[in-house]
Amino acid sequence: MTTLIFVAGAYLIGSVSFAVLMSRAFGLADPRTYGSGNPGATNVLRSGKKAAAALTLIGDAAKGWLAVFLAIRFAPHDADGLMLVALVALAVFLGHVFPIFLKFKGGKGVATALGVLLALNGWLGLAVLGTWLLVAVVFRYSSLAALVAAIAAPVFAMLIQLRPELVMTTAIMSMLLIWRHKGNIQNLMTGKESRIGSKKADSQ
Ligand code: G3P
Repeated sequence: MTTLIFVAGAYLIGSVSFAVLMSRAFGLADPRTYGSGNPGATNVLRSGKKAAAALTLIGDAAKGWLAVFLAIRFAPHDADGLMLVALVALAVFLGHVFPIFLKFKGGKGVATALGVLLALNGWLGLAVLGTWLLVAVVFRYSSLAALVAAIAAPVFAMLIQLRPELVMTTAIMSMLLIWRHKGNIQNLMTGKESRIGSKKADSQ
């Protein structure tokens, strides 16, 4: 019963889209109606309102962090507890990608995954964030940075000897995140992907 409450709670927290909320708060158009159509920080940035994009990023990351932090805080320190943390991590991520409040059409999961990883292990989160930043600064593609960071995440998780259950969780999130970027991958390969800060985007 506790597991169900935690997992359902994490899914509901994940379902809260900060891209949609912040856009409303700043009086911007719904991010699902312009740019890539993705309710995420990168697309909100295309509105030109940097503060809304920054708060989207922080909010989407914070919800991932919070759900996993609470699970770690209250889960028993045994195999069941570890499984609970893994399930909560997946649930909050899935909530963001398939939110009940947006007819199951959510974001690509980058910020939420980062929050999850920071809560699972601070060093893991920082290494993945560093990877994202490095690729983003060099190539100026948010999607490419996310894809490289997603590939690196389970490798880092193994290197720091995270528990196998959590390495698996990280790998599952990475696979889903990469799948959600299939439109971006196509655009990157055909030179159509828009760079960070550019207002144009036709990726889906
Ligand atoms: O975080 C999402 C980013 O990797 C891609 O966003 O809007 O360019 O599809 P977008």
